[in-house]
Amino acid sequence: MGNSNDLRSKSLWMDIEVAPDARPLEGDQACDVIIAGSGIAGISTGYELALKGLAVMIVDRGRIAGGITARTTAHLAPLCDDLTSEMIKLRGEEISRAFYESQAAAVDRIEAVQKREAIDCDFRRLDGYLFQALNTDSKIIDDELDAVRKVGAPVHRLVGVPLAHCGNQHALRYPRQATFHPLKYLKGLAEIIEAKGGVFYSETIVREIEERKDGSVAAKTDSGVITAKAAVVATNSPIVDTLALHTKMAPYRTYAMAFAIKRGAIPDALYWDTLDPYHYVRLQPGEGAADTLIVGGADHKSGEADDADLRFEALEAWARNLIPAAKNVTHRWSGQVLDTIDYAGFIGRNPGSQNIYVHTGDSGQGMTHGVAGSLINSALILGDTAKWQEVYEPTRKTPSGIGNFVRENLTAVKNFAEYLAPGELKSLDDLKPGQGAVVRQGLSKIAAYRGKDGALHARSAACTHIGCHLHWNSFETCWDCPCHGSQFAVDGTALNAPAVSALADVKTGD
Ligand code: FES
Repeated sequence: MGNSNDLRSKSLWMDIEVAPDARPLEGDQACDVIIAGSGIAGISTGYELALKGLAVMIVDRGRIAGGITARTTAHLAPLCDDLTSEMIKLRGEEISRAFYESQAAAVDRIEAVQKREAIDCDFRRLDGYLFQALNTDSKIIDDELDAVRKVGAPVHRLVGVPLAHCGNQHALRYPRQATFHPLKYLKGLAEIIEAKGGVFYSETIVREIEERKDGSVAAKTDSGVITAKAAVVATNSPIVDTLALHTKMAPYRTYAMAFAIKRGAIPDALYWDTLDPYHYVRLQPGEGAADTLIVGGADHKSGEADDADLRFEALEAWARNLIPAAKNVTHRWSGQVLDTIDYAGFIGRNPGSQNIYVHTGDSGQGMTHGVAGSLINSALILGDTAKWQEVYEPTRKTPSGIGNFVRENLTAVKNFAEYLAPGELKSLDDLKPGQGAVVRQGLSKIAAYRGKDGALHARSAACTHIGCHLHWNSFETCWDCPCHGSQFAVDGTALNAPAVSALADVKTGD
């Protein structure tokens, strides 16, 4: 079967290798700051700290920058993607303005860094268009115009965007949005971190981070302990803090596909519509006269659907209707976002810790959240004032979001009841090659997959985080946990936090 990760989809960005010299940790090490997770949040934080002369070690369970960051669609849009009007309802104008300013500062930071460090990462400023979805009314556009003006962002109202059938659609144009190639950017940052003495460890799972009485921290792995003055946990869904943050977030799977397109067929801009979930469109420069068109959307709560082909068909039909110049499909992939109940991530001191910092809950804006978070956590570690800390404070109360909070967490409660339900298949013998399903065996449930070669892979269907019931993801050939975002390969390997341990082995007699 090869590496269990080989069965998963590949995004447009993944041919770039970030920190290719990274190796697994061997033996104990010490540094100033240990960072668990090498996505944009982890590497950007490492860069900010390395610039200030701190010794950083960045550790990832897989390859460097090979997790959820590698599955982004790379928009750098600083306004709340769940609508600023919605954010103001939950958090008020002042916090919503600070949210916008912090996200805009993240885009400014990427622009400044790639320029200063001469990182060739296709960064460019461009317009963003929020446009009225076909067959909907335009009130949402008026409400959003009002809200965006309140938070001080530049915005222009117009009728018509340069997509087919959209000449009469009401829209907002946001100037000075941006986009880039995320892994080219992170490759550039990683080289600078290494040049300043920072170290990357790949294929190394941080199982636990302990805060000692003297204030130091110890990150424990199977192959050694890294001792440091501070730790940053930037693992998409945090491996620390078993429930305090997890009950305030919910994992969603999102889908993206890339098409070949002739350069200039549509203006280089970010486009997204007013539906929920919304469709989005952006471009990536290609070779010669060709570009790549990226289209995404069709989100659903993780583990609550296994119909990726239908979702890609719907996305493709939507894209071909609005952009007839789209040619052949070159990539299809999916990623996972953690939505918080009030639209901003949780960034700052981990609740109850002094020297452990957390970054999670990027809510569909992972690139800007990642860099905004790096500015906040690096400032806190350095003992400086962290601007915008209040927006992202992990211990914040969310009184207006109680309705959402309860709704999102019903998933976990509902999920435990699934142990009582019958399995999806009566017997392991019913599994066809290439199929995965949950099969009941006595009192337990088995997460079973039969490889294309006929070999059976059977593991416990209980997530190793806190035991939720796993769901099969046939598109990514992995097991998804609907509760807090863990994913597992068919051989049981934990692919995504918060889980760190592999699924338990089971006896099948097969
Ligand atoms: Fe928490 Fe699975 S991710 S129980």
